Amino acid sequence: MSEALKREAAARAVAEITSGMKVGLGTGSTARHFVELLGARVAQGLDIVGVPTSEATARQARECGIPLSDLDSLDRLDLTVDGADEIDPSLNLIKGGGGALLREKIVAAASDAMIVIADSSKIVDALGRFPLPIEVNRFGLGATRHAVAAIMKHHNAQGELKLRASGNGEPFLTDGGHLILDAFFGRISQPEALSNELLDIPGVVQHGLFLKMCREAYVATPNGVETLLK
Ligand code: A5P
Repeated sequence: MSEALKREAAARAVAEITSGMKVGLGTGSTARHFVELLGARVAQGLDIVGVPTSEATARQARECGIPLSDLDSLDRLDLTVDGADEIDPSLNLIKGGGGALLREKIVAAASDAMIVIADSSKIVDALGRFPLPIEVNRFGLGATRHAVAAIMKHHNAQGELKLRASGNGEPFLTDGGHLILDAFFGRISQPEALSNELLDIPGVVQHGLFLKMCREAYVATPNGVETLLK
């Protein structure tokens, strides 16, 4: 989908931001548009503070002149705006295609509301076509991988479990210094059970299922931006 559509969804979210708000800043190509457009409004006098969900977003937000803070200084945020890899009809999400899922989930959970911005290619009937990112500790990778594979089998996963690599062929490292396993399910029919089972594995730091966290989604289509509500 085009950058123009992502930007339209981002612009719709920027219109929700008013002075005084504490705003979680998402990660990814759609969130990049949001941060850029938000920066333009800050330059015009909008008085907000942002909490970035990745080092990449922090760098971009600084370049855009957005004042930044963190969750040590602020307990709660008003709103987080972020992208998603998949959005189901209940607004449950898969996130983490960019590898920022842990900080994204921490920031979204500390926010009174989460708005997702996306183009219509992200809408699915059921989650799982996009491989589920699972952030894992480097220690004990083999045992963690084995435990995740067993859960995949239990949930009738249709595909592979892969250690994510970065461009140079080395394992991809998250901002927190962890690894990512990408688990291809095909269709996730019991997302809550899957979430709990994955979090029960000691080596799993977090996973990319964002369940019951998103309040609304602004989805850009060639005919305009649609608002999806939970
Ligand atoms: C980053 O880790 C992700 O959760 C992104 O929010 C997600 O992958 C969507 O990214 P795009 O907007 O680039 O599709």
